[in-house]
Amino acid sequence: RAPRGRAASARRRRRSSALVLLLGLLSTGVLWSVLAPGGNAAQTADANEAVRQGRALYAQGCSTCHGLGAQGSTTGPSLIGVGAAAVDFQVSTGRMPLAAPAAQADRKPALYSQTQIEQLAAYIDSLGGGPEVPKITDAALDDADLSHGGELYRANCAQCHQAVAQGAPLTYGKFAPSLSESTPTQIVEAMRTGPESMPVFGDRQIDEKDAVAVAAYVEHLTKSKSPGGFSLGKYGPVPEGLLGLLVGVGGLLVVCLWIGARQKV
Ligand code: HEC
Ligand code: HEC
Repeated sequence: RAPRGRAASARRRRRSSALVLLLGLLSTGVLWSVLAPGGNAAQTADANEAVRQGRALYAQGCSTCHGLGAQGSTTGPSLIGVGAAAVDFQVSTGRMPLAAPAAQADRKPALYSQTQIEQLAAYIDSLGGGPEVPKITDAALDDADLSHGGELYRANCAQCHQAVAQGAPLTYGKFAPSLSESTPTQIVEAMRTGPESMPVFGDRQIDEKDAVAVAAYVEHLTKSKSPGGFSLGKYGPVPEGLLGLLVGVGGLLVVCLWIGARQKV
């Protein structure tokens, strides 16, 4: 009887270990379906689709100057490694596609929709990373330290873009444009990518929070109404002072002369 009992208990052990294995597999499956990051595969598919669409848009509108593989040509620089931020900046400000070679690309109405810009950016980003499109929330702008943003603006930007962000000419037919139409995203993108003769302001120089503060300050400068009334075109303190001198003191002089002329001696 003993051998038969051993065989039965071995069979029972085998059956119970099969049951444990089955339970283990089942619970792993259930856990996986509950805990696995949802929509991951779908997201990757979306990203691939954006890159594919972006490549098609690129081939049509940009490759003549920047080369079929974005490696650059005699009429446009290489775009490998410039990052999504550079594409978003250049295309959303209408600078690209460039109509004709010029000293500097002008701001124009954007030719591509926001979705198309994202697709172009996804394609260029897929060729080699670079600065990403900054995500700036309204809350972050509201919370920004305006006076610190102002200090940073005067120290880093005002020498080119002028004290009230109206822009100013540079050398060789180039100019620092007015910032009155720039969105906060475009302002941070310009800092991170340094278009044309503008220097790059990296993370280590002006960090994320400070960059938002600069953007908030520029918004404040260009979008808020003049508290003093007529702004004289916001040309800054020197022209405004000169106008004050000419009109104010000049006007008083005219009054004095008039009084003097009427005085019968
Ligand atoms: C007629 C030629 C031409 C066409 C078409 C053109 N570009 Fe450009 N692109 C240039 C030149 C020249 C520059 C550099 C001068 C400048 O930045 O003003 C440039 C600069 C850029 C930059 C900045 C690179 C950097 O180093 O920051 C980006 C990004 C860019 N182009 C993207 C595009 C995209 C996207 C398109 C298509 C929608 C496009 N360009 C179409 C000529 C062109
Ligand atoms: C050396 C001069 C120089 C300095 C300093 C400079 N910029 Fe610029 N900036 C330029 C030039 C030149 C352009 C035009 C680039 C182009 O058209 O491709 C420009 C373009 C821009 C634009 C795009 C404007 C538009 O059309 O919407 C923004 C925004 C901007 N700068 C913000 C800044 C900020 C913020 C700072 C300081 C952190 C700064 N710049 C410092 C020269 C400068």
